[in-house]
Amino acid sequence: MIKRREFLRRAAATAGFALACKSSPVAWAQSDSDARIDVLLDEPLGPISPNIYGHFTENLSGVIYDGIWVGENSKVPNVNGIRKELIDQMRKIKPAIVRFPGGCFADSYDWRDGIGPVDKRPRRTNFWSFGDPPPAPVTHRYDPNRFGTNEFVQFCQLIGGQPYLAANLRSLPAEQFYRWVEYCNSPAGTTTLADERAAAGFKDPFNVRYWGVGNESWGCGGNFTAQEYAVEYRRFTTWVPGYGNELSFIASGPDGDSREWTRGFFEEIARKGKEQIRGIYGWALHHYAWNLSRGKTQDWNAGKGDALKFDPVDWYEVLREGDRMESMINAHWQIMGETDTDHHVKLVVDEWGPWYRPGSELTPGDQIEQLPTLRDAVFSGMTLDTFNRHPEKIGIACCAQLINCLNSLYLAHEDKFCVTPVGHVFQMYASHQAAQSVRAEFSAPSIHYDRDGKPASFWGLKGSASLLEKNLVLTAVNPDVSHELEARIMIRGAQAKSGQATVLTASNIHAHNTFAQREAVVPRTEKLEARGPNLNFRFPAASVVKLEVQLA
Ligand code: AHR
Repeated sequence: MIKRREFLRRAAATAGFALACKSSPVAWAQSDSDARIDVLLDEPLGPISPNIYGHFTENLSGVIYDGIWVGENSKVPNVNGIRKELIDQMRKIKPAIVRFPGGCFADSYDWRDGIGPVDKRPRRTNFWSFGDPPPAPVTHRYDPNRFGTNEFVQFCQLIGGQPYLAANLRSLPAEQFYRWVEYCNSPAGTTTLADERAAAGFKDPFNVRYWGVGNESWGCGGNFTAQEYAVEYRRFTTWVPGYGNELSFIASGPDGDSREWTRGFFEEIARKGKEQIRGIYGWALHHYAWNLSRGKTQDWNAGKGDALKFDPVDWYEVLREGDRMESMINAHWQIMGETDTDHHVKLVVDEWGPWYRPGSELTPGDQIEQLPTLRDAVFSGMTLDTFNRHPEKIGIACCAQLINCLNSLYLAHEDKFCVTPVGHVFQMYASHQAAQSVRAEFSAPSIHYDRDGKPASFWGLKGSASLLEKNLVLTAVNPDVSHELEARIMIRGAQAKSGQATVLTASNIHAHNTFAQREAVVPRTEKLEARGPNLNFRFPAASVVKLEVQLA
């Protein structure tokens, strides 16, 4: 691995170059610092939608049953059947939006099964039942439908977020889509479905704005071609009454980075007339970082790494895979712009996170549950920073998935509960919500490592900045597993008055929280010496950092 000091020595030798570039914000710092961050307050990028800090809750294994829903008669503290500790924790992170019921599950779900008297609701084979043999509880295989639309919307109301429902395009007719909208949104007393909702105790309409139209329609959502799916999308979304609500439809985006899917869909939609594009709010993009094979295989199972047992190279590899998010955002945005020339449609990254092989689950039997470590906290900070840097492009993003699943913020089983390092990152980053994203330039030496005998590198420091009134929030990750990094931070256009720093790190890169050790990884906040236009900060190795600076 390159020594940062060695890099500095070489940088000092080119000091003449740095001086020549003095007016450039990215010129190398003339200080003892290893790195430099220029926060350009007069270069706003756009407001950061709170919906970028969204979540995903699929009816998959332990996510709903055991994770969110414990039942009214449970000894686990609950509010109308919903786990109380989860509600309390989520309120701290300002969860703007939550997606439900899938994922792949959505395209096998009949919303009618989950409404009406609870003792009359049918049991159905869960889409994911194949992967949930005993000891997984029977509810993982056979959906009792105890948690349906009413319960989900109530969950959203309790945590202070809004619902984003994913409709079934593969196995239900279009009529069922607009009936579901009618059930949720028609005013009290106006329709039979509004009466059904009222009979369940929900007289007032739910006013659901965001609707996914299928999920991964190239695969589990129907195996369509992009052109076939575009035709279905038009049919499903034509003349859906909103009942006074603006309805925002989200179309199912590409398989990974498939540019053909994005181009094919938009061209087919526009073939019927460019105004058809106005009927799309968002374009879903899913990105899982799963392949840690270092280029050896593309096999979905063989390529995965372990959530807990990893070396520094695996650490950098998963970050490198996750970091492809930025090029995907830019590439698909550009392709969308070929037909959607005024960029009406936003990107909706409604599934993101690392995906490891099975084996680390805290609750045996919970399918695709994994134990997030400090590595996943750094991954999550890096991803949220990426979204913050593209506020004009990203309308919604949902981390996959909220609880007892992939990049979970929380783990729970019966009366046991813990906040993962990822959950702590969401709490730290909540201060960016609704603030103005401003350009911040990061300049730091790259990290070099040996990738199976070949040299590889990864950037040394990156983040994002936002401004809300006089409060500047700067978040960043230092991905280097063993070196801290001192950075000179230049605030262009204002003076700092005071500040505080919150740091999430641990001495062991594998550190994680469990039911028995709930606080192995927690953030620490300290006062920051911040006065004037510049400040220095040491970013610890393997850390996620938030600097909050009050401006004069
Ligand atoms: O998050 C798990 C699954 O991953 C979702 O159901 C699906 O949309 C994706 O392939």
